[in-house]
Amino acid sequence: MKNISELEPTIVTIFGGDGDLTWRKLMPALFNLHIDGFLPEKFKILSVDMKDIAQEEYNKRHLEGVNKFSRRGKATKKKWKEFEKCITYVQADITNDKSYNNLKNIFNETDKEWDVEASRIFYMAVSPYLIKEIAGHLDNTGIAENSQKHRIVVEKPFGHDLESARELNKVLQGIFSECQIYRIDHYLGKETVQNIMAFRFANALFEPLWNRNFIEQIQINVSEQVGVENRASYYEQAGAVRDMIQNHILQLICLVGMEPPVDLNANSVRDKKLEVLNAIRRFSENDVYVNAVRGQYDKGWIEGQEVKAYRDEDNVDNESLSETFAAVRFYIDNWRWQGVPIYVRTGKRLQEKTSYITIQFKEVPHKIFPSGVRELVDQNLMVISIQPQMGIRIHFEAKKTGLDMRLKPVDMIFNYSDSYKNDPPDAYETLLNDVILGEATLFMRSDQIEEAWSIIMPILDVWASNPPQKFPNYQSGSWGPPEAEALIAHDGFYWHTFTEPLDNSSRLTTK
Ligand code: BG6
Repeated sequence: MKNISELEPTIVTIFGGDGDLTWRKLMPALFNLHIDGFLPEKFKILSVDMKDIAQEEYNKRHLEGVNKFSRRGKATKKKWKEFEKCITYVQADITNDKSYNNLKNIFNETDKEWDVEASRIFYMAVSPYLIKEIAGHLDNTGIAENSQKHRIVVEKPFGHDLESARELNKVLQGIFSECQIYRIDHYLGKETVQNIMAFRFANALFEPLWNRNFIEQIQINVSEQVGVENRASYYEQAGAVRDMIQNHILQLICLVGMEPPVDLNANSVRDKKLEVLNAIRRFSENDVYVNAVRGQYDKGWIEGQEVKAYRDEDNVDNESLSETFAAVRFYIDNWRWQGVPIYVRTGKRLQEKTSYITIQFKEVPHKIFPSGVRELVDQNLMVISIQPQMGIRIHFEAKKTGLDMRLKPVDMIFNYSDSYKNDPPDAYETLLNDVILGEATLFMRSDQIEEAWSIIMPILDVWASNPPQKFPNYQSGSWGPPEAEALIAHDGFYWHTFTEPLDNSSRLTTK
């Protein structure tokens, strides 16, 4: 790890500097990087936004954001005082070249003051429709043209469909080199998601079993209790497939399904992930009916609180057809995974907020234990818990203590909080730190984005031309519509829903 004085002097310019993402995620993440000593000694944040607010007011508002959202809780006065010195609020109209000339002056003055040409990071924390516009102004004013030192960070959604994603890639690549473009998928910054590579490729134990010969099915559950919150204008256009599957969940499939890369270089890893995306079976129209289920939440109860139906949420059309739930059965058509179904389920207003991947292994080939000695018959499971619980559980059969031979399933558990004392960083801390270091492994390359869109386009197209017959079709607080149960039951399986704490106080109960 580099000492802070060895880190390149850096100026982070945030477009949308007073927006929600900056308030909830970026400022708390940068503040934590400051506390942990990961920011360069020479470091500046230019928060660019159109609002007319004084620096002092801006700082105060973002201190509140840090106090509310930082994993560390309330900031200490001392640390915040140090940190706020780095922040400059710049009121600007980001649709006007003049504003970028003003930024140019700030960059030049800072370089002079620091006596060095600082790295520049341009973070687009803005509505997607502004990205092309900002990129055009960066181009016109030449302030982001050094491919070694200037980087741009683009948030999701990256496009609205395959065509618009291609178009956006084309525009960005016409201005910047691919190595300058950091497309964020915040799931890739999560500790437990990064750990999938460590777990698979730093251990000799599991990889020999990681294929169709031993694995029967894989499930990915990413469920949320929250509803659409205050994001209806975006979500009405997006829906669950665009919002969660096109990016986060397909990336999880890549990590579980990829071949070992030769090293951890950005392109080695991204090439292997791309192979998975290439191999995911493309759906015909009929395949969509058979493999994909959509849902929209009705009113119901979450943690004892009555909650509204999606169509009754603020700014949602009262006849909205947007899906707030999706379940899909994918297949990876390659040597390793042929015939292994991968079931994914995601939705809002579901019973639990929890994300986990379940690997279900096949039954033993020959059963020497008669059914009478087995109190419960469970197949081996490996559960990779991403959040809120963080760890891995391996569920297997063992002999129960006693004079006779009786079997009972037990669990072996790795839990982050028992094994590591330091608090895991937030995904945005990891990702911002990587952008500062110029490390692109955890970011999406243009071809990955386009492949991911091409996988889900048939689902989006078929759904768009066949409006759902009965929305809303699941109650808030449930696990989604009955069709999602039917999708998996058709193959003789059921959704694993784990709510047990990740410790030895409870054994995992399968259905
Ligand atoms: C975002 C989606 O990308 O991920 C949101 O747009 C979703 O709709 C969020 O709530 C979930 O992220 P996390 O980190 O809470 O799982």
